[in-house]
Amino acid sequence: MHASRKPLIAGNWKMHYGGPAGVELAIACVRIAPKVPKVELVIAPPFTALAACAHECEGKGVAVAAQNFYPKDQGAFTGEVSAPMLKDAGCTWVIVGHSERRQYFGETDASVGEKTKVAIASKLPPIVCVGETLAERESGKTLEVVRRQVAAFLDFIAEAPGVAAIAYEPVWAIGTGKTAGPAEAEEVHAAIRAQLADRLPEVAEKTRILYGGSVKADNAKGLLGCANVDGALIGGASLDAASFGAIAEAAQGLT
Ligand code: 13P
Repeated sequence: MHASRKPLIAGNWKMHYGGPAGVELAIACVRIAPKVPKVELVIAPPFTALAACAHECEGKGVAVAAQNFYPKDQGAFTGEVSAPMLKDAGCTWVIVGHSERRQYFGETDASVGEKTKVAIASKLPPIVCVGETLAERESGKTLEVVRRQVAAFLDFIAEAPGVAAIAYEPVWAIGTGKTAGPAEAEEVHAAIRAQLADRLPEVAEKTRILYGGSVKADNAKGLLGCANVDGALIGGASLDAASFGAIAEAAQGLT
């Protein structure tokens, strides 16, 4: 972490806790906030729980993110949800380009670029996800893949330095219990920051680059201690307020 960037700890609930149990979890996350005043906390519930969770979190130090959106304001797009609708529901962030969306729902570098552009223009800051598959890592292509993914949205985040966050989530580390070690994570984070600096130094200085992939209370400190890791995007461990809180406290302890 770096003193100039406020750590961002975000919980991606994925397709869990979309009803009353989600509201309970949001209330439990609100209780964490006073213990971690130097950390920005974000939760990303399913669409169905966004408004209710945002209601519980409002003014209490926990921001609410959507997990996806459609990059048009309104229209005949059955089943889709727009950035203005998410803002109306109380969201102040949106996750864009998660690997599960790339893998199962046909998202591409181009669609991720378009969503990043529209999210920023809509004043709904995106957490844009990148990361290599196991096959890509094993064939030595990690940095090439991540650079290509970042290149697809770099121009858009350069228009508003520090508004978007980037999450580096190696696909092989998601939900597997395997994490990139701190040195492996730092190598990719440093490469992303160098790519941002080549485009515009201010973007490199201000953009928070989060690590995601099996982050737990017991490995958080090592990962968050890396110079270019500015926070975490947490899946499984964010579904338990105690472990989410422990990760946030690890970040607080490093500030
Ligand atoms: P896990 O923490 O469950 O590995 O999920 C990471 C992730 O995909 C967060 O977006």
